Amino acid sequence: MQTLFQQLDTFLTHTQNYWRFEPFHHSAEPALPWSEPKLKEWLLGLSERQIETFKAQPDTLIEQLAPFIANLTDFHTLTALHKIQHSAPELTAIEQGVPGRKYDQVRLMGGAALAHHHGSEWLEWCSGKGYLGRVLAQNSQQRVTSFEFQQALCESGQADADALQLEMHFIQGDAFDGASQAVFHRQQHAVALHACGDLHVRLMQYASRASLSAITLSPCCYHLIEDETYQPLSQFARNSALHLSRSELRIPLQETVTGGERVRRHRFAEMSYRLGLDELLRYELSMEQYLPVPSIKKSQLSAGFEAFCQWAAQQKQLSLPEVDYAGYQQRGEQRFWLMERLSLVQQGFRRLLEMWLVLDKALYLNEQGYQVTLSEFCDRATTPRNILIHAVKSG
Ligand SMILES: C[S@@+](CC[C@H](N)C(=O)[O-])C[C@H]1O[C@@H](n2cnc3c(N)ncnc32)[C@H](O)[C@@H]1O
Repeated sequence: MQTLFQQLDTFLTHTQNYWRFEPFHHSAEPALPWSEPKLKEWLLGLSERQIETFKAQPDTLIEQLAPFIANLTDFHTLTALHKIQHSAPELTAIEQGVPGRKYDQVRLMGGAALAHHHGSEWLEWCSGKGYLGRVLAQNSQQRVTSFEFQQALCESGQADADALQLEMHFIQGDAFDGASQAVFHRQQHAVALHACGDLHVRLMQYASRASLSAITLSPCCYHLIEDETYQPLSQFARNSALHLSRSELRIPLQETVTGGERVRRHRFAEMSYRLGLDELLRYELSMEQYLPVPSIKKSQLSAGFEAFCQWAAQQKQLSLPEVDYAGYQQRGEQRFWLMERLSLVQQGFRRLLEMWLVLDKALYLNEQGYQVTLSEFCDRATTPRNILIHAVKSG
């Protein structure tokens, strides 16, 4: 893992101009962030349909990018994770109504934790209503402590667990309050399904301090941190020249499970309207900086581009001159497609950046005396945040 991390770190440092930019903002300038004319030619030659296809098929995209970016495929191969093998339990303890993808995530992560269980009880960190904890309590007959911030979720999770006669105990608390360390005990196996940013960092710190038997977590939302930049945990990452900003920590999350045609249409309308308005403000009002406009209800978009501009102007207390709205809408749409083209190149690095972040966590746990394995607990269609960090206390 150390060698892999260092190789990946060097690769990402050398290839920064391919991924270290914001396609939304960069598309305002004519210059591309890199100099390879062949990559530019390929990118600008793609049809809108091809762009959509490559966006939806990350593996095909990487094959396409390979001739332009040396070693890109090698690093994807080197960092590819195996799918964890286990028989996922049936979930009689989960009520109907849990959305399909969530149901699968809970079932598959529960199965993985049960198959590699160490310890005599469980700690479910940032549990929500405790779906994962229910699977563990039901299938291991061991006590589960579910720690959660929202009182309402604790109450409803406790009521459901009691009704199912499961040995689950909810504790309401704040992960950022040092007092929460009191819930950690050596004999526990801690689990966390999709604990965001600093929340999973706290889990690793508290759990290793208390020498827990095992920790199984799937990280997500790397950008939800208090600091402006990523605070590396392991010695190796602390020595890295990469200092990731909060907005760069969003890059791995930009691969979302596609929401279908309607979501795609809304996104096109909203982004191209925002970019069209940016063009209008730059050319008509000489604004040099992008003006952030608040989020808008999807239903409002159907009123069209001009109505969007008027609404945004009202929000920002601006008065707009009479302009050729159709022309600016068209410019917004052109910028949308340029943004999408640039995003394809950045997309080739998403998983590698995520692996850099995950390897940092794995190395940190290793430094704390844990044997760490990395795997995928489900396929990407179930959730792109499918990486499982499993750590077992050595000795
Ligand atoms: C993404 S949800 C995951 C919930 C659950 N693990 C699941 O997968 O269904 C994150 C959970 O962390 C909880 N949370 C947020 N901030 C917290 C804090 N400071 N302390 C404890 N829990 C927190 C939220 O209320 C939420 O239930």
